[in-house]
Amino acid sequence: MRTPIIVGNWKLNNTINEAITLVKSLRSLVVDIADVEIVVAPVFTALSAVAQALADANIQLAAQDVFWEDSGAFTGEISPGMLKDVGCNYVIIGHSERRQYFGETDEEVNRKVKAAHTHELIPIICVGESLAERETDKTDAVIKDHVLNGIAGVSADQIPSTVIAYEPVWAIGTGRNATPDQAQEVHALIRSVLSDIYSADVATQVRIQYGGSVKPDNAAALIMQPDVDGALVGTASWEAESFAQIATAVHNTYSTDKT
Ligand code: 13P
Repeated sequence: MRTPIIVGNWKLNNTINEAITLVKSLRSLVVDIADVEIVVAPVFTALSAVAQALADANIQLAAQDVFWEDSGAFTGEISPGMLKDVGCNYVIIGHSERRQYFGETDEEVNRKVKAAHTHELIPIICVGESLAERETDKTDAVIKDHVLNGIAGVSADQIPSTVIAYEPVWAIGTGRNATPDQAQEVHALIRSVLSDIYSADVATQVRIQYGGSVKPDNAAALIMQPDVDGALVGTASWEAESFAQIATAVHNTYSTDKT
């Protein structure tokens, strides 16, 4: 069975001190959860301090973005090796906010994904359709494009250590989550795309998270779906209590209903 993974995307929030306070209270609330991978993604400036606050904890560290070059004249960028150096195991790539506000393209997403793998950072590749695309029946085509372009050149050996996050743009920060059925439908599509490219066996090893208005009260129903292997959480991860409640809901679902 795939190990569930929940990631708290803190987005553009928290000074170093605020980040440390948040992660310390989260750490105490989830101390007993061993069967769910719990990850937080602070801003770059807080990564080092949060890494120290997480020493020996059951919480891992992610960055919110990465550049594909190792070093050189690329003012303002951060390389995969630097993220490994500060203690990251994961990196979020191609979030819809980066695509929307910073013009990030599928090609750039793909370069970042390949660079992350080169440095043994696990990429969390975000894919998802806009409301207009859903309403004009373009969801499947958009998802296939995002997935195929995002993983181009990723080998069958690397794909099991790749996470895909389905985040419908219309569900992000809106309080309107995809229904469990809507999420399952797209997750199954993503898995079938992976199966076509690699193999059914390889596809079953890849974790696919759902993101978009995940809250303590809807997490269990989403996680129950057979192809939903975790959650990428924004707003509800900015408070230790609500993120811990989501982690607990995932843990309870896996230890009871989802086998
Ligand atoms: P919300 O949980 O605030 O909808 O954000 C989702 C998200 O963008 C996570 O990356």
